[in-house]
Amino acid sequence: MAAPGPPIGILAELTHRCPLQCPYCSNPVALLKANTELSTETWVDVFTQAADLGVLQVHMSGGEPTLRRDLEELVRTLSERRVYTNLITAGVNLSLERLSKLKEAGLDHVQLSVQGTTAEVTELIGKHKNGFAEKMQTAKHVRALGLPLTVNAPIHRHNIHQVADFIELALSLDADRLEIANVQYYGWAYLNRAALLPALKDVERQVEIVENARERLKGVLNIDFVTPDYYADYPKPCMGGWAQDAFVIVPDGKVLPCHAAQTITGLRFDRVVEKPLAEIWEASAAFEKYRGFEWMTEPCKSCPRRELDRGGCRCQAFAVTGDAAQTDPACILSPHHDKLRNVAETASANTPDAFSYRRI
Ligand code: SF4
Ligand code: FES
Repeated sequence: MAAPGPPIGILAELTHRCPLQCPYCSNPVALLKANTELSTETWVDVFTQAADLGVLQVHMSGGEPTLRRDLEELVRTLSERRVYTNLITAGVNLSLERLSKLKEAGLDHVQLSVQGTTAEVTELIGKHKNGFAEKMQTAKHVRALGLPLTVNAPIHRHNIHQVADFIELALSLDADRLEIANVQYYGWAYLNRAALLPALKDVERQVEIVENARERLKGVLNIDFVTPDYYADYPKPCMGGWAQDAFVIVPDGKVLPCHAAQTITGLRFDRVVEKPLAEIWEASAAFEKYRGFEWMTEPCKSCPRRELDRGGCRCQAFAVTGDAAQTDPACILSPHHDKLRNVAETASANTPDAFSYRRI
């Protein structure tokens, strides 16, 4: 296969530690303890290699990345090499002083996760007392410092009725962007799927609200919409395609094509402490496995949409069919498509199960 072009972005999961316990967390169910995390020195080296490789943006995530006391140093390393830095944070226990230090280090953007538009829903999901008030305070600090703000709202059965309120909240916080992101079902979310899947009528209402707001708020608020796969006709090009232009580094230094790739059994991931980042990007067996189009099976193989969505999500294909090379079942052409719709309809018609909360 031809060598890939340089990657555009990295999602750097600096730690799995987090003050929140969201039951749809994108981290793996087997969370990594603090003593497995890369050292400051290694992250600095990795980010320097990333800049040399041509990476343009690094999304600093977790868990909660601000729990790393060296975050300022990591941001500075990237900023000095003109790499755009985005802090993805739960926004609790985050003082104005800390945010100021991160800004001084060169931080470019903050993405704040908000679990609900009320204290009640926010606490039901995140299990953090006073979480909503702390998040609102963080949003104010971010804007007071003149940093751009994205509000990230993961949507599911327990907050889908708040979509219109999320739009109002983002406006009141002077956010630049709102991400209405229907939960993706792998890892913790797959475990809690029956308790999280919304009903079709609520999804349809949500789509209508988002479409109207996008039209009404053009030039005022950018609204990104991550559509709900379980009621979709076609899948999304997950990660823009496997190992296409972005990748993930997890706290112990494994390099993954996407944040859920470890749910696919049989793949082996290289670590930044073993090989140079450029070599991993260009030749890692896990990256090569589903890069491009050669791995595809029918119906994707000969489908005219394959350049558009790249067959959807490998992790979802694996979770539902047991084979990551299958067409993402979110696609109407997949023989497993009805399975998704049936699971969603059955789950949303029943009383939700209790959550298995993410605990480290
Ligand atoms: Fe996309 Fe594959 Fe479905 Fe075609 S068959 S629309 S390429 S997922
Ligand atoms: Fe792994 Fe979609 S989350 S390919």
